[in-house]
Amino acid sequence: MAGLHAIETASRDEIAALQLERLKWSLAHAYKNIPHYKKTFDANGVHPDDLNDLSDLRVFPFTAKDDLRANYPFGLFAVPRDQVVRVHASSGTTGKPTVVGYTRKDIDVWADMVARSIHASGGRSGDMVHVAYGYGLFTGGLGAHYGAEKLGCTVIPVSGGATERQVQLIQDFKPDIIMVTPSYLLAIADEFERQGLDPCQSSLRIGIHGAEPWTNEMRREIESRFDMDAVDIYGLSEVIGPGVANECIETKDGPHIWEDHFYPEIIDPGTGEVLPDGAEGELVFTTLTKEAMPVIRYRTRDLTRLKPGTARTMRRMDRIRGRTDDMMIIRGVNVFPSQIEELICKDPRLAPHYCLEIRREGALDELTVVVERRAGEADLTACAAGLGRDIKSLIGVSAKIDIAEPLAIERSQGKAKRVFDFRKK
Ligand code: DLL
Repeated sequence: MAGLHAIETASRDEIAALQLERLKWSLAHAYKNIPHYKKTFDANGVHPDDLNDLSDLRVFPFTAKDDLRANYPFGLFAVPRDQVVRVHASSGTTGKPTVVGYTRKDIDVWADMVARSIHASGGRSGDMVHVAYGYGLFTGGLGAHYGAEKLGCTVIPVSGGATERQVQLIQDFKPDIIMVTPSYLLAIADEFERQGLDPCQSSLRIGIHGAEPWTNEMRREIESRFDMDAVDIYGLSEVIGPGVANECIETKDGPHIWEDHFYPEIIDPGTGEVLPDGAEGELVFTTLTKEAMPVIRYRTRDLTRLKPGTARTMRRMDRIRGRTDDMMIIRGVNVFPSQIEELICKDPRLAPHYCLEIRREGALDELTVVVERRAGEADLTACAAGLGRDIKSLIGVSAKIDIAEPLAIERSQGKAKRVFDFRKK
C-alpha cells in the first residue's frame, strides 16, 4: 500500500454511489445480525429496505454510548466471537468500559485508513515513525502501529510514558514522524529542554496529533517548538479508532473524513434533527464497511461542522470545538476549554499548560483558569489581568486567573484532563 487511494480524489457522485451501496449493506448487516438494531429499527417502524437515498438515513434511530454499555461486553457484535480477532475498550470514567471488536478484514481496513492518514500528513514509505500513543485497550497505539507498518514505515512502538526515554529514543533513532497526543508532545518538549536539548534540532519532520481537542494556536506552538509540521488526526473507538479523518499537510484546514468507510451527519444535539453542511452540531457516524461491530448513527458527542473537500474530494470537519460533555456552563454561558486555550496560546508569556477549575461560591459559579508562566517570565499581574479581560470580552464569562510556576500543572501522558468541576459531588 503506498500513495494516494483513487477514491480520495473521486468525484462526489462516485463517492455518493459507493456510500449508498455500502450503507445499504451496513444497515442490513446490523439488522440481520445484531438483536439491538433489529429491536430499535422495528420499534421505530423502519427497515433497511427503506433506504433508497443517503438522506433516508435520517429516519433510522441513533446509537449512543449507553447502548454499548447496555450490551456489554460483546452484545453488539454482528459476527460469531471466533471471527473477532481483536477487542479494544475505552476505560470510561465511571462504570463499565465500552467494548469494540474487529474481524481480520476490519483490522485491514483500519490499517489502510491510518496508512492513508499518515500519507495525507506527508509521511511516506521508508519513514521512521515513533508511536507515543498508549498501547493496550486504547486504540491509539495499535491503530497507529498497524497503519504505519501498512504504509511501509519503520515503527518504533514506544507507547506513552517514561518521558526521559521518549527523548532518548528520538535522539538516538532519529524518527521522521511522531504520533502522540498534542498535550503529551508538550511534555516531551519540556523534557528535551530539561536535558539541555533543543527540540527544534531533533530529526522530527511531522507530528500527527489527536485523541483530544487542540487548537490552531496549539499547532503553532508545537510547530515552532519542534520546527516540524503538525497535523490533526481524528477518530473514536466506537467507529474504528484513529484514522476516521485526517488533515492534509498541504492545506492544514481540518481533517478530511474518510467517507468511503464512515458516513458523517451533523445533528442538533437537542432535537436530533439533521443539520445542513456548514452548520455546527454533534457529529454522528455510520460505519459503511465494518463487519464485527457496525455502528448505525453513532452519536459522538463531538461538536463540529462539515465543510467541502479541498486537498481531497471527501468532506472535511472543523477541528472539534469540544465535546458536549466537556462543555462548561458558567453562569449560563457555554464555555469550551478550546476557547480558553486559544487565548492562552496567544500570549507568549504563558506556557500552553493549563487547567480549568469550577467551584460554586454561594449561588454563583466561579471559573478559575490555572495557567503556567513560561520560565524566565516574572511579575505577570498585568498579563493575568489581560487574559481575564479577554475571556470576559470574547467568551463572555468572568474568570479568576491563577498564574502557576513552570511544571506546576500535572503533565498528561495521553489525553489531558483540562476541566476539574468541584461543583459535582
Ligand atoms: O481517541 C482514538 C484516537 C487515537 C484518535 C489517537 C486520534 C489519535 P477514544 O479514546 O474512543 O478514541 O476517544 C474518542 O476523543 O470522540 C473525541 O472527543 C476525541 N478526539 C479524538 N481525536 C480528536 C481530535 C481515540 N483530533 C474521542 N480532535 C472523540 C479533538 C479528538 N478530539
